[in-house]
Order: sequence, then structure tokens, then C-alpha cells
Amino acid sequence: MYNELIDKLEKEHTLSKKEYLTLINNREKCQEYLTQRAFAVRNKVFGNKVYIRGLIEVSNYCKNDCYYCGIRRSNKNIQRYRLSADEILSCCDEGYKLGFRTFVLQGGEDNYYTDDFLYELIKDIKRRYPECAVTLSLGERSYNSYKALKEAGADRYLLRHETANFEHYSRLHPKEMDFFNRLACIENLKALGYQVGVGFMVGSPYQTEEDLADEMLFLMQVKPHMVGIGPFISHKDTPFCDFESGRAELTTFMLSLIRLTLPNVLLPATTALGTIDMDGREKGILAGANVLMPNLSPSFAKKNYLLYDNKICTGDEAAMCIECLKQRIKKTGCEITVSRGDYKNEL
Ligand code: 5AD
Ligand code: FES
Repeated sequence: MYNELIDKLEKEHTLSKKEYLTLINNREKCQEYLTQRAFAVRNKVFGNKVYIRGLIEVSNYCKNDCYYCGIRRSNKNIQRYRLSADEILSCCDEGYKLGFRTFVLQGGEDNYYTDDFLYELIKDIKRRYPECAVTLSLGERSYNSYKALKEAGADRYLLRHETANFEHYSRLHPKEMDFFNRLACIENLKALGYQVGVGFMVGSPYQTEEDLADEMLFLMQVKPHMVGIGPFISHKDTPFCDFESGRAELTTFMLSLIRLTLPNVLLPATTALGTIDMDGREKGILAGANVLMPNLSPSFAKKNYLLYDNKICTGDEAAMCIECLKQRIKKTGCEITVSRGDYKNEL
């Protein structure tokens, strides 16, 4: 019965909430088959290729106070830093030499990065590397800000919705953070022509299986180009320090559901998944993921951009990270490719 549901999902790219929930509730019984089908679809759409994105963690200052996040403004136990335009450009230079054709500028919500600053920075990156894609992951900004950054040349924007459930959202965030503003940001980004990534944490405090089924409906509705999901991992200096972390198996299960629902979607095997399970990223690829986002940040930044405890790859040089990933990915039968890896509409 579960296998029939999985076959139906593969064929029709949609299930009802009840059907998604049936699969999620019975995941032990059908994970193996689901993984197989998701990997097959992954390979049909992308061959054996895995795209890489160079992640640059530009700042760990954040004006927000999300209960789960290690760089929340109330955390006094971290050393704050922000990268200058020159430092960011040197990360791109190094990344380019290593074969990256997408740079992801990610940071906390830091007012230091004004529209003017980012406009010039994006222009500079695009002047140096016209064939590279620039992805931004800088949180909620105004429509006009997103518009200016798009005009500067930004191609993509990652803004995880964190949960599709309004009530759940308000248990993960202080009340000044507005679920509906976040959704409006996602709509604005889409309207402006960005390739848009949304996403959520798996196993975050108070999340239910029903919430996970709702995530699938949300994704079908929004039709994002990218979906970033990873397990929630508790951070010792946050209000959620005593909550259990999410599980790798449930995360890879959700990756597979996403692959069958949105066959073309760009789907990273995240660092959080690699942190909760030593082989998490390989398992993510085998479950249908097709993107990896190695860290290009300078080492002082890596050591202080800690959203959760025990984060991996915070010491290595970028070049070593790539080598390590190449070896790991080989075992899945896939291989890393040098390309922008844009979203493609056709199957
Ligand atoms: N565990 C896992 N993921 C986290 N993020 C933030 N804090 C944590 C945590 N403790 C994720 C959020 C955010 C992304 C950049 O990192 O989903 O959108
Ligand atoms: Fe920075 Fe959540 S703590 S956006």
C-alpha cells in the first residue's frame, strides 16, 4: 500500500495531506523504497551530477532573536564579525579557482549591509565573474531592496520559511517576527524574478508529523526553485538548548518526498544533515538531494558562524573540504560538477 502511494507520487507529483501523512507516519516501512525512487528521479533529471555552491558567511550579527539560532542577538557568548567587501571578494576569488560558479552570500539580518553596499558588492562580483551566479541569503528585506539587489545582478535568494504553520512559527520566534511578512518576502522575491529557495527545519521543537505533511502542501503551492531542509540541532546558548535535535532518517525521508513532489527542484544535502550524522550528506544525495554547499568563509568567520552545536567543516580549508566531499560523493555514484546549475523548467 505504501509503495503504491510512492508510485502515485512519482507519477503525479502530488498527494493529499492524508496520503503524505500516511507515508510520514509509516516511514520505517517505506523509507527504503522511497529512497530508491527519489534517487532514480534525481538521476533521471540531473544525471549523476551534484552542483556545488560556495557559501560565504558574511556576518554573524543579527537583529533577530529566533529561539533556535546560535547567532540570535541575545547570545552574548559569541564573537561577532562581519566581512568587508574586499574580504567577500577574496572568498569569491578563492572559490572561483576551486571551480565554484555560484556564490552564496549568507548572513544574519545585519543593517550594516545597506542596499548601496550590497548593490556595489554584487556589481563587483558580477564584473569579475560574469558567468557566475550570485545567491543571497540575507533574510527579510523590503520589496525595493530586493528589487535593487536584483538589478545589481543577484540571481537567486534563499529565505527559509522555517515552518508552514503559523502557530508553530510563533513558537519558534519572538512575537516581533511576523510569519506573514516572511511569506510576503517570498512572494516578492518570486515576483521580481529571483530563483527562490524556501525551507524548514526537520524535528524542530513542537513540530508534529502533521506539520511535515503541511510542509509538502506548502511546497506544492509555492513551487520554489530550491528547498533547503536540515535537522534542527540544539545550540547550548539558546532557549531551545534542552530540546532534542532532529533525526537524519526523518530528514532524508523528507528530502525524498520533496524530490518526488518537485522533480526539478534544487535540493541541498545540508551541513546540518552532515553534522547530525557522519554520512548525512552522502545519505542526502542517495535520498534525492543534488546540491552541496561547502563553506568558503575565512576561518575566523567559520568558527563564529555557529547556528547550532558541533557544526562540521569549521576548520578545514575550502580546498580540503572540496577534496573530502569529492571522495564522499564518489561513493554514491555521483560526481561534483563545475557549472552554475540553474533551475530548469522542463523535465
Ligand atoms: N539547527 C538547525 N538549523 C538551524 N538554522 C538556524 N538555527 C538552526 C539550528 N539550531 C537554519 C535556519 C536558517 C538557516 C540559515 O539555518 O533554518 O534559515
Ligand atoms: Fe537571525 Fe533568526 S536569529 S534571523
